[in-house]
Amino acid sequence: MSQQSTHDEPVVRAKMSPARKKRMAWLGLLAILTLAVVLPLASYSVYWLGGNAVAQDVGSVTNPRSNMWRAVEQGVGGYTAVNGAEAGVLIAQGGVRWQQLRDGPVAKYMPWLVLGMLAIVVLYHLIHGKNKLDASQLSGRKIKRWNSFDRSVHWITAISFIVLAITGLSMLIGKNVLIPLLGKAGFSWWAQASITIHNVVGPVFSVGVLLMIVLWVWHNFPTKVDLEWFKQGGGMFTKSHPSAGRMNGGEKVWFWVVAVVGLAVSITGIIMLVPIYNLPVPTWLSWVPLIEGTRPQMQEANLVHAVLSLGWTALAVGHVYIGTAGTEGAFEGMKTGYVSEEWAKQHHDLWAEDAAAKGQVVVLDDTTTQGAVGTGSQPAAAQ
Ligand code: HEM
Repeated sequence: MSQQSTHDEPVVRAKMSPARKKRMAWLGLLAILTLAVVLPLASYSVYWLGGNAVAQDVGSVTNPRSNMWRAVEQGVGGYTAVNGAEAGVLIAQGGVRWQQLRDGPVAKYMPWLVLGMLAIVVLYHLIHGKNKLDASQLSGRKIKRWNSFDRSVHWITAISFIVLAITGLSMLIGKNVLIPLLGKAGFSWWAQASITIHNVVGPVFSVGVLLMIVLWVWHNFPTKVDLEWFKQGGGMFTKSHPSAGRMNGGEKVWFWVVAVVGLAVSITGIIMLVPIYNLPVPTWLSWVPLIEGTRPQMQEANLVHAVLSLGWTALAVGHVYIGTAGTEGAFEGMKTGYVSEEWAKQHHDLWAEDAAAKGQVVVLDDTTTQGAVGTGSQPAAAQ
């Protein structure tokens, strides 16, 4: 409908010619393009129009906020909502150093010790073979070496050690080694499970180490006989069988490694568990190094724990080899409690002589190793 003027006269609109329309469209497009190019460069126009002093200042003065964080990194305190030893510490510098050491040398080099030891053991076995018994036939006469409590303590501690080694290594190097095998989701599940298993099995292991120390320290004090045993390399590279008492020099060294490193690994482990289990630390324990459980102390505890336990795992590879494939008859002792008289004479001659003098050599029913031949359930002393 056409519009009407107040005087009812028709309004005549001047029509734009097609040529003008086209010109206007081109001009519009040109204006848009010009603005699109010029507007982003507006800051330069400020510079050219005399704002250069401002622009230069902006270039030379560092952001005051980054200056503040630089100062914080150097140890300047501030306000934090944390109470206790770390109140006011905005960036704990020790944490950066700890992570560099843990993810650097500890995670990169220490696991190679374990693999290196595995390689040495395999090489030794290929070259030297099993340390076999000289006797071609066993007489059936045996000597009791470990009672059932000794064996339970040994196997509970050994199994927990293996579980701790697997879960501990998963936490330390799993990110690099396991993600390609399990995928990210699979590894995330296993990493969480590893932490929980490690936290639960750790204390069991520590009790095992304490019991081992109390039970076996008595036969692990060094003697002159051990010196001679070491001089002969424990007979590992010759056909000789150096003299030994109940435990030989090598076993004594392993015992003291278990005692000293076991205690250190247990204490550093417990220091890390204190905040997780919210354990109260009694004041009379304040002499224990790192016991207060502050973050820097826990970082130190973590490094000591990782380095010692990985070195220990490497040594354990040697112990496991000697106790199984390396020495004929050794495993039997920790499995049944009894060793053959032939094994005792070959590896612990002084102890075997002592046992014979005390009438402790027995003849056992081979099928059960429990009942003595012809004497009901009690082992019979051999003649
Ligand atoms: C599955 C792995 C293991 C095997 C097969 C094994 C085997 C043995 C055997 C056969 C013995 C007796 C040696 C003898 O009668 O002279 C023994 C002793 C011993 N084992 Fe193990 N063991 C293992 C793991 C461990 C671990 C992980 C630890 C420490 C955490 C350990 C600590 C000890 C100690 C302290 C002794 C006694 C040494 C002494 O009193 O001088 N074992 N082991």
